[in-house]
Amino acid sequence: MSPPPRPAFPGPVQYGPLTLTSRYLLSPLAGFTTLPFRRIVRRIGGVGLATTDLVNARALLTRNERTMQMVETHPEDRPFAVQIFGSEPDVMADAARLLVELGVDTIDINMGCPVNRIAGAGAGAGMMCNTSGTLKLAQTVVEAVKVPVTVKMRLGWDSENLTAPFFAREFEKIGVAAVAIHGRTREQGFSGTVSLPGIRAVVEAVEKIPVVGNGDVRSVADAAKMISETGCQAVSIGRAALANPWIFRQLCEWEQTGSFAPAGTFDERLELMLLQYSFLEERYGSDRAIILFRKMAHWYLKGMRVQKKMRGDFQQVRTADEMRAAIAAFRAAGPVDGNRTGVLKDVEIAVPKGPVDKW
Ligand SMILES: Cc1cc2nc3c(=O)[nH]c(=O)nc-3n(C[C@H](O)[C@H](O)[C@H](O)COP(=O)(O)O)c2cc1C
Repeated sequence: MSPPPRPAFPGPVQYGPLTLTSRYLLSPLAGFTTLPFRRIVRRIGGVGLATTDLVNARALLTRNERTMQMVETHPEDRPFAVQIFGSEPDVMADAARLLVELGVDTIDINMGCPVNRIAGAGAGAGMMCNTSGTLKLAQTVVEAVKVPVTVKMRLGWDSENLTAPFFAREFEKIGVAAVAIHGRTREQGFSGTVSLPGIRAVVEAVEKIPVVGNGDVRSVADAAKMISETGCQAVSIGRAALANPWIFRQLCEWEQTGSFAPAGTFDERLELMLLQYSFLEERYGSDRAIILFRKMAHWYLKGMRVQKKMRGDFQQVRTADEMRAAIAAFRAAGPVDGNRTGVLKDVEIAVPKGPVDKW
């Protein structure tokens, strides 16, 4: 298939004084966009900014061990954003100050999480139901720190309340540096399709801050469509990066040259998997690393066309030795379709849906 035509790209994306090296960003995926995964996509290249999973601002202030692990970074992981959630302006501002001490480049406020536990408590997407409280919270955070503060939100609570354009405009006035917009409402969860006109309305509502379009971008063609139909300056990609961590590099190549190389071969994907495991093992030791790794390996192995039975068996590995034996077996068997060094056929990989009420 020939690459899509390139739209007229706007200039480099600026988050206040911070210039992003590409307009293709890694969207936060709780439980997946951990430091080891971020290092992997960074090594492949093309990522303009990566963000942590959402972090509880209150837990951050208690320096809870698991929470501190979530905000760990690495020289390869720059520029780097931490996403925080909460409903109390002072707690959010204190958390932001702490993050600046820890060296983050930019702070993102979560205003899109649909999970009841978060949205029901007035944080995440729940913030879209409280105009004055939300603007006060954002302003308090913006005024607390010198680094750029951004907001990630949905189109609105439901189709009757598409408040994202209003919020984007007001956020710009109080100094928010950029907004990312997942083109669905809270009510939609992950169902239906992303509304490109809805994202466009947000682009049209702001004067000059960048709008990051987000949702269902799985290929260069999808990103081309999002940029040309919405006018967004940047695109963030979540689930598709699990199946194809090369997508950011492909997008940059396409932007610069009009064409792009295929995603990694079987052998390259295997190397990447092993590298990610080594990052996990280095940080957590092999017992926890294996548990964390099985979840990510699920995506890699599907993309690599490893036989279904072997993929199932891999979910049972318990020790580093068992894991290495399983990897050796994958290497020996190769893909069920294609070869180790050629272009693998694209497959549709089911993505996590994040059920609205159960997250
Ligand atoms: C499993 C999962 C976890 C997510 N975690 C977060 C999160 O921590 N913070 C956030 O702002 N969005 C989160 N999202 C939403 C994504 O960042 C993104 O907005 C959404 O998946 C649509 O983009 P995509 O189609 O490129 O994945 C999550 C989505 C999924 C599926």
